[in-house]
Amino acid sequence: MNAAAYLRSRLTETPSVAVILGSGLGAFAESLDNAVAVPYSTIPDWPQSTAIGHAGKLVAGRFHGQNLIVLSGRAHLYEGYTPQQAAFAVRVLGRLGVKSLVVTNAAGGINLSYGQGSLVLISDHINLQGANPLTGPNDDSLGPRFPDMSEAYDAAYRAIAKHAAAQLNIPLPEGVYAALAGPSYETPAEIRYLRAIGADLVGMSTVPEVIAAHHMGLRVLAISCVTNMAAGISTQKLSHQEVMETGLRVRDTFIELLTAVLPHLQGDPIG
Ligand code: HPA
Repeated sequence: MNAAAYLRSRLTETPSVAVILGSGLGAFAESLDNAVAVPYSTIPDWPQSTAIGHAGKLVAGRFHGQNLIVLSGRAHLYEGYTPQQAAFAVRVLGRLGVKSLVVTNAAGGINLSYGQGSLVLISDHINLQGANPLTGPNDDSLGPRFPDMSEAYDAAYRAIAKHAAAQLNIPLPEGVYAALAGPSYETPAEIRYLRAIGADLVGMSTVPEVIAAHHMGLRVLAISCVTNMAAGISTQKLSHQEVMETGLRVRDTFIELLTAVLPHLQGDPIG
């Protein structure tokens, strides 16, 4: 059985909205009612998460009356996964009928107007991972060979998120996310380079997922938590410990924002 068929056999509902949780946000998965939790280890072909802070399960359930799929744990290139594996979960979600994808992540802040713990709405990305999940034969039934990327991060969804954030008094600036393969953090010189080319945030995830989602016509909303200022901005050394601690500290605000935004993301796919 393939992953989508297996999940169809396990889930009673097929939600149209899915959320991918970044480092430190796993608790959100525990807030679903009538939840069905499916460990990644039981889903055929599903890449296992090896990163600390990533639980490794799909949870389907109801959140404030809305059916959701929540992915707690994702596959990263730095774990040795291919870009296709990093996008595998999104492909399966698309096949299950998900139309709207919310992607969250932990990121380093390059833009000096951000602070540690800022939430930032991703408006666009720069893919510096040297890899693309669409490499190889194109499945024309999913999307075009050369997908347009001029609005990978849905403008209407961004407006919804900004409106919700304003009502909650949560600052939510927009920023461009640069994706690197990792796992080493950037050098200060790399951060100066990233700032010069227009990046506001830096991270090691999200981009393969967004490319695959957009290729399939899913609408995408992506929000970063600035868990640390990027290398060289302060004298403090970067550590995964700090990333996890900031993620936890901001978790409640992040969940508050998601709670306000999610009910507005039901809707028709683009294209
Ligand atoms: N760089 C890359 N990825 C990250 C960072 C960072 O500073 N913080 C959290 N994820």
